Amino acid sequence: MNNQQFRALVVRKGDDGVSRKLEMRSVDDLPDHPVTVRVQYSALNFKDALSAEGHPGVTRNFPHTPGIDAAGVVESSSDPAFTEGQRVIVTSYDLGMNTPGGFGELIRVPGDWIVPLPAGLELRDAMIFGTAGLTAAMCLQRLESVGLTPQRGPVLVTGATGGVGSMAVAILARCGYRVAAVSGKAAAAGFLERLGASQVLGREAVTAEEKKPMRKSEWAGAVDTVGGPVLAGLLRSMDYQGAVACCGLVASPELHTTVYPFILRGVALLGVDSQDCPMQQRRDLWDRLAGPWRPSNLDAMARECDLEGLEEEIRTILKGGQTGRILVRVSAG
Ligand SMILES: NC(=O)c1ccc[n+]([C@@H]2O[C@H](COP(=O)([O-])OP(=O)(O)OC[C@H]3O[C@@H](n4cnc5c(N)ncnc54)[C@H](OP(=O)(O)O)[C@@H]3O)[C@@H](O)[C@H]2O)c1
Repeated sequence: MNNQQFRALVVRKGDDGVSRKLEMRSVDDLPDHPVTVRVQYSALNFKDALSAEGHPGVTRNFPHTPGIDAAGVVESSSDPAFTEGQRVIVTSYDLGMNTPGGFGELIRVPGDWIVPLPAGLELRDAMIFGTAGLTAAMCLQRLESVGLTPQRGPVLVTGATGGVGSMAVAILARCGYRVAAVSGKAAAAGFLERLGASQVLGREAVTAEEKKPMRKSEWAGAVDTVGGPVLAGLLRSMDYQGAVACCGLVASPELHTTVYPFILRGVALLGVDSQDCPMQQRRDLWDRLAGPWRPSNLDAMARECDLEGLEEEIRTILKGGQTGRILVRVSAG
């Protein structure tokens, strides 16, 4: 028995609904995986807020600690691939879903979920990126795999002030793309321009309902974090052989479209899933984020809170109200 205690946000689900508060947990509450990591930083993603709300599509076992992102130091390991004191990143797989996640000071995970911190990144930087940065990087990689280059034309990003959206804007701009950012927050235009957007559009510019199945072709590529009518609308305005990376559903999981964008303009709709991104691809993407794809203004992309401050941030992200990333300081380094 190991009675070591640590602090964690704990979500409980009962007959009278869902509650969450900071509690002391015991290491014995963690699953029997080989690597124990002391989490220094986590970050808040839309999925974490769903988990914190008890959404059964994300988390089924309660009590539960959300947090799909964690960066910290290996405390102990029976997996020879990892050594005590090593700095590591753990994102997605089952972390924060049904495995206690990064909103606790300790996590215990399988070795094959772990990415050693790449050279050039601090733990804090890694969590400014987190799953949002990894997902945005996967989107760019998918788009480039079907021929997108900066010379092909501008790239549209929806949900642009959100975690994935803001990362996509900044990484695309860093890679030399002209970026049009779609946002419902008029007041955030300056933030998006500082990330590198050359154009900021309201959501209605993409969703505008009209009879015509196709619109003027405008975008060589797109990163969509929103789904629903926004995705349907932007498919109609893609350039010939343009490509859309589809990764989110904050507006709706539904997609009502015609086949015209595909058969008249050869548009490609590319799915992106970061949760089960294979380890070699994951490591390659983290190396890019640490190097050539690292936005110059990374630090300005996040606000920091601690575990006590998480509650307010969870409420805000559920309303679509966050701008940029929320970095969570979990324990002192
Ligand atoms: N496929 C994957 O591997 C993967 C990985 C990470 C995230 N995701 C998904 O990607 C989406 C974004 O995640 P996130 O963590 O970046 O969330 P987030 O930080 O909350 O960002 C979402 C943004 O979308 C916009 N938005 C919110 N509600 C909207 C609505 N009803 N209609 C249109 N736009 C709306 C808002 O930006 P504006 O105000 O600027 O419009 C909001 O900031 C989520 O659906 C998440 O589950 C998928």
